[in-house]
Amino acid sequence: MSPEFLPQLFPEPLLRRLLAVLDFDPGLVAEDFADPAVQPVLAEAEVLVTGWGAPRLRDEVIAEAPKLRAVLHAAGSVKSIVGEAAWDRPVAVSSSSGANALPVAEYTLAAILMAGKNLFGLREDFRRERSFRLGHIHPEVGNFGRTVGIVGASKIGRRVLELLRPFDFEVLLADPYLEAAEAAALGAELVDLDSLVARCDVVSVHAPDLPETAGLIGAARLAAMKDGTVVVNTARGRLVDTDALTAELETGRLSAVIDVTHPEPLPRDSPLFDLPNAFLTPHVAGSHGNELSRMGLYMVEEAERLSRGEALVHEVDPQTLWKQA
Ligand SMILES: NC(=O)c1ccc[n+]([C@@H]2O[C@H](COP(=O)([O-])OP(=O)(O)OC[C@H]3O[C@@H](n4cnc5c(N)ncnc54)[C@H](O)[C@@H]3O)[C@@H](O)[C@H]2O)c1
Repeated sequence: MSPEFLPQLFPEPLLRRLLAVLDFDPGLVAEDFADPAVQPVLAEAEVLVTGWGAPRLRDEVIAEAPKLRAVLHAAGSVKSIVGEAAWDRPVAVSSSSGANALPVAEYTLAAILMAGKNLFGLREDFRRERSFRLGHIHPEVGNFGRTVGIVGASKIGRRVLELLRPFDFEVLLADPYLEAAEAAALGAELVDLDSLVARCDVVSVHAPDLPETAGLIGAARLAAMKDGTVVVNTARGRLVDTDALTAELETGRLSAVIDVTHPEPLPRDSPLFDLPNAFLTPHVAGSHGNELSRMGLYMVEEAERLSRGEALVHEVDPQTLWKQA
């Protein structure tokens, strides 16, 4: 991983727990397996602890690590770091993507509630007018009985569904890999994506960036949304057609909370920076600040399970990797 992340992922108490079960040098944090200091360690290593900035475990690296049996990735997706040979061997790969899902889900819940109350729009009005009339009712706002659509029963999508339970929402879910009974158990009605976009007041995107999800929310689906629908994208920019969304936002018909864009970052002159109905954040929904140590904690617990000879609980299933982030 990039050395800067080690103390953030594993602050002192977590580092001590890790050192109690893994024999390693905290001073040796490598971003390159060709590093001469790494070579002798790799030949003996049974466990690799990785994080953001980790180099790819190419097949030749796996060959140089004959004793390797586990990769503990204290970050989200492992697709960019784990090569084919690791899955063939097999090396157990565990990831903190479940820990990284929590702040994204929290951001999403906050976005849904605040957008439902039109706080983003009302703040803009208030800032412009600098006065208000007490008792004036805003008929367009409120989180009572709104219909929220979740696109993707991913780790994040499922956590959002859990967080939505205490509120008075009708929740729809679109996911081609889910059965209706499973959706019902998650507190949602399974519908196809076209029905979801047409019926919802909020459409929140949580599917992975895969060839088949590029442009999932394109011009036609945006056009099918009701006036006033809020689009929330914390997934990946490619899933929502940026030009089509910008065009809809410019008419004022829709509004959006956007954490990820395509391209990322947007050109400096993108209208999305200035539109009052676009709430744009710089890809911050995932782990930041103290949230990094939650990702560290998940992998400390995995290392402790390994040392006790127990099964890992955040192991990545190579069979379903094709439909994962
Ligand atoms: N904004 C951020 O900082 C941030 C942080 C972490 C993850 N993400 C993004 O959030 C999204 C979800 O991440 P995750 O780790 O929860 O994903 P995940 O790997 O858990 O998602 C896999 C699941 O998505 C569902 N899915 C697959 N294809 C689908 C489709 N065509 N339509 C609907 N559902 C589909 C399936 O249920 C599949 O099992 C990803 O796009 C990821 O890149 C963003």
